Amino acid sequence: MRNSLKKLFGYAIATCMSCLFVVACGQTSPNPNSNNSSGSSTISIGIAVAQTSNVALLGQEEVTGAKIAEAYFNKQGGINGTPIRLVFQDTAGDEQGAINAFNTLISQDKVVGIVGPTLSQQAFSADPIAERAGVPVIAPSNTAKGIPQLGKYISRVSAPVAVVAPNAIAAALKINPQIKKVAVFFAQNDAFSKSETGTFQETVKQKGLELATVQTFQTTDTDFQSQVTNAINIKPDLIIISGLSADGGNLVKQLRELGYKGLIIGGNGLNTSNILPVCKALCDGIIIAQAYSPELKNEVNTAFRQLYTEQNKKEPPQFSAQTFTGVQVFVEALRTLDKTTKLSTLALPQLRTQLNDTLLVGKYQTPLGDISFTPEGEIVQAQFFVAQIKMEADGNSGKFTFIQ
Ligand code: ALA
Repeated sequence: MRNSLKKLFGYAIATCMSCLFVVACGQTSPNPNSNNSSGSSTISIGIAVAQTSNVALLGQEEVTGAKIAEAYFNKQGGINGTPIRLVFQDTAGDEQGAINAFNTLISQDKVVGIVGPTLSQQAFSADPIAERAGVPVIAPSNTAKGIPQLGKYISRVSAPVAVVAPNAIAAALKINPQIKKVAVFFAQNDAFSKSETGTFQETVKQKGLELATVQTFQTTDTDFQSQVTNAINIKPDLIIISGLSADGGNLVKQLRELGYKGLIIGGNGLNTSNILPVCKALCDGIIIAQAYSPELKNEVNTAFRQLYTEQNKKEPPQFSAQTFTGVQVFVEALRTLDKTTKLSTLALPQLRTQLNDTLLVGKYQTPLGDISFTPEGEIVQAQFFVAQIKMEADGNSGKFTFIQ
C-alpha cells in the first residue's frame, strides 16, 4: 500500500512537471507542453479545418500543408529544441462544426493558437470564441472583408478578396480585350462569396464593363439551369463565379453544357484541383487569381514545393501553401518569444497573449513570399498571380497554368 502510494505520488509529480507551464504544480492551468507518445515534451498548435463535408475539397489541401509544415519545422528543431505537435479538429463545413472544433482545441487540447477555419462563413461564428478566450487565430483561407477586424487575436495569411480578385478580371481582359458584357454569379448563403462578388462587381464597373446580370444560388445547389439560362440569354462575354468548389464546379459544367462559350472567372472557392473531377473537360479555361505561385523563388518555398510534389506528384496549391504559412508564423513567433521569455515559464493564458503580440510584429519569409501583418492582423503581401485551368485531352486530368 505504502509503495503503491509512493509510486502514485511519484507519477503525479512527473506528470505535473511535464504538463504544467508554471513552476509550482497544481496552481496553474495546464499548458501546451504535453507529453507525446514518445514521452518528450511538445508545443500544441490547433488546426481547425474542414476534413469532411463538401468544404473538405478545400480543407484537405489545408491538412496537407499543415502536416508538411509540422515535419519541416520539427526537422529544424521545432521551437528552439521543443517539437511542435499539430492537433487536428475537423470543423466540417458549417458554423457549428467550427465552433465545436475551436472549443475543443481551446479548452481540451489547450493549444497555444489555432490555424483555421476554412471558410469565412465559419470564421464569423468561431473566431469570436477564440477572441473571448484570448487565443490567437491565424486564418489560412478566410478572404472575406472584415476577418482581422473580428478581434485583436484574429489575423490571416489569406489575402483578402479586395486585393486578389481584381487580378482575374485584368487577366481576362488581356486574353479578350473585346469583353463588354459581364454576368456575375454568387452564392448568397456564403459570407466569402458575398464579399468576393462585391469586389468583382465593383471592378467590372471600374473597368468600364457592363454588369449585365447578377445571378444568385446556394452553395448546396446542384441544379443551376434557370440561372444559367437567364445569363446566357443576355449573351455575356465573361462570366464570374463566387461560390465554393462543388457548387462552383457544377455551375461551370452546366454553363458549358447549355452552350456558353466565353471566358469564365472562378473565385477563391474554386481554387482547387479538387474541382477537376466535378467539371472534368469543361473546367478547361477557368481563370482563377492566386495568392501563391509554386514558382516563387525563396528558400522556404523551394523546400515546401519539393516536399509537396514528392508526396502528391503535382504542384502545391494555394490552400496548402497558406496553411503551411499559418503554422510557420506560429513557429517563428514562438521561437522569437522563447528567446526573450522561456515558454516554459509562462502560464498558458500569458503564453497565448504574448504569442499573439509577437506574431503581429514579425516579418516572415514564407512560401507566399515575404509577409508581415498590419497591427489589426491583416496580411501584408507583395505578389499575386493568375492561373488558368488546362485540361488534358482525356478530360480527366488537368492543371493550373500560371498566366500572370
Ligand atoms: N476563401 C474562402 C472563404 O473565405 C474559402 O470562405
